[in-house]
Amino acid sequence: MDIELVQKCLTISKVSDCLWAGSQVKKIAQQLGFQNKQIWELATVTSELATNMVKYAGSGCIIIRSLDSPAPGVEIIADDQGPGIDCANTALLDGFSEGSLIKDKRFINSRRGLGSGLGSVKRFMDELHIETKQEGGTRIVTRKWRTQYAHCHEQNSVGPR
Ligand SMILES: Nc1ncnc2c1ncn2[C@@H]1O[C@H](COP(=O)(O)OP(=O)(O)O)[C@@H](O)[C@H]1O
Ligand SMILES: [Mg+2]
Repeated sequence: MDIELVQKCLTISKVSDCLWAGSQVKKIAQQLGFQNKQIWELATVTSELATNMVKYAGSGCIIIRSLDSPAPGVEIIADDQGPGIDCANTALLDGFSEGSLIKDKRFINSRRGLGSGLGSVKRFMDELHIETKQEGGTRIVTRKWRTQYAHCHEQNSVGPR
């Protein structure tokens, strides 16, 4: 299968951008022949990473790329200039949400989440790398391969702060 390689750079700054980002990855995944369930997972992951960006960093960018080597796949890079993630291993735990650490009641409704977003990203994707950049901000690189290749490339890593 000949794959036309595509790259989209999306600026994320508001809640409505998050669903839009999800719809953009769907188009690329469809072109690559992903199954519907995988397409839905990719859209969910993209929206979640974008939502975290708006919530915790204010804004950032999402890059979606099609991959053809070693197999057809999709790469999603979420890059922001926010506070970074103190401990990525903790952030990946289901139920961990920064909102639960917020003592000031005025902000609780706007910041509390279920804390399962990054955990779902890990479950839905084949590779996940979370890095807090030296210059500040978070960079998350995640990849998913078309079904018949998935799990050949299982890799996860979290970078030091
Ligand atoms: N882009 C980001 N910048 C800074 N912190 C982040 C970012 N994304 C996630 N986090 C941290 O990781 C935690 C877990 O994220 P997540 O699993 O999506 O849960 P939730 O968003 O429901 O709190 C967040 O509460 C937050 O502390
Ligand atoms: Mg979240």
